[in-house]
Amino acid sequence: MKGIVLAGGSGTRLYPTTLAVSKQLMPVYDKPTVYYPISVLMLSGITDILIISSPADLPQFRRLLGDGSELGVSFSYAEQEQPKGLAEALLIGADHIGDDSVALVLGDNLFHGPGLSPLLQKNARDVDGCVLFGYQVSDPERYGVGEVDEQGRLLSIEEKPALPRSNRAITGLYFYSNDVVDVAKNIKPSPRGELEITDVNLAYLAEGRARLVDLRRGYTWLDTGTPQALLAASQFVGIMESRQRVRIACLEEISLRMGFIDADACHRLGERLATSEYGRYVMEVARAWGPPSAAVAGAVS
Ligand code: G1P
Repeated sequence: MKGIVLAGGSGTRLYPTTLAVSKQLMPVYDKPTVYYPISVLMLSGITDILIISSPADLPQFRRLLGDGSELGVSFSYAEQEQPKGLAEALLIGADHIGDDSVALVLGDNLFHGPGLSPLLQKNARDVDGCVLFGYQVSDPERYGVGEVDEQGRLLSIEEKPALPRSNRAITGLYFYSNDVVDVAKNIKPSPRGELEITDVNLAYLAEGRARLVDLRRGYTWLDTGTPQALLAASQFVGIMESRQRVRIACLEEISLRMGFIDADACHRLGERLATSEYGRYVMEVARAWGPPSAAVAGAVS
């Protein structure tokens, strides 16, 4: 399965903060927002990831993330000229998808919870149509909303309905089979001229090929679209990280745990950031992972 992170849009609800800097490069507590959706793809077992952003912002994403080789993954980059809808990412990413399935994640979505990685990996296998992830929220009218029957089968999806049929938001993580590129080619732009991801999902629903996986109590799903949401996300991550001394969406740690890099490589990545708590944490994780090699032992003694 290939991965796509859509880190476009103009972030107008965060103006003036986002006049000069992309929303997905803003910090959520101790790391750039885009680390969180990237971590979700990596936890799904995906190593080939396309980052899509505006022509103005893309160079900064490249500077931040490079080609991914140090993390044992591949990052490539593509421009979205204008914010013309989330589903356009599937057309921009068509070559990247090739003949594979794809996971699309929105660049400002944060997921956290016990057993998230196995849950994602299980649902990433043999996708036929689309797999959506639902999450109970108090303000469903702000999101795509899914309605399910008693067996959890998806009955309807509506984008930002004034009168939501349920409190189940459709989160910004979507798994699709390879035919999604054709599906996206065939949807019509909304009255605002955008290719809506909800229309892609509705096409699969009409064919009986849309599935909703519920992220239950105990999971956290947050976005960062407004100043309040950005602060809440930072507070959440800050509290979790300082209370338990573990880190959420630490890409170096995830690469190590997923087997994309070894402990030596992880330690070297931490050393480069050793002036920050984050960097020292990466070094600690690498040291705890296994018996340090001579090179790492030398460096720490
Ligand atoms: C988009 C989708 C919406 C989804 C949300 C998740 O909305 O259109 O269906 O629930 O992302 O973050 P946006 O945030 O672009 O308004």
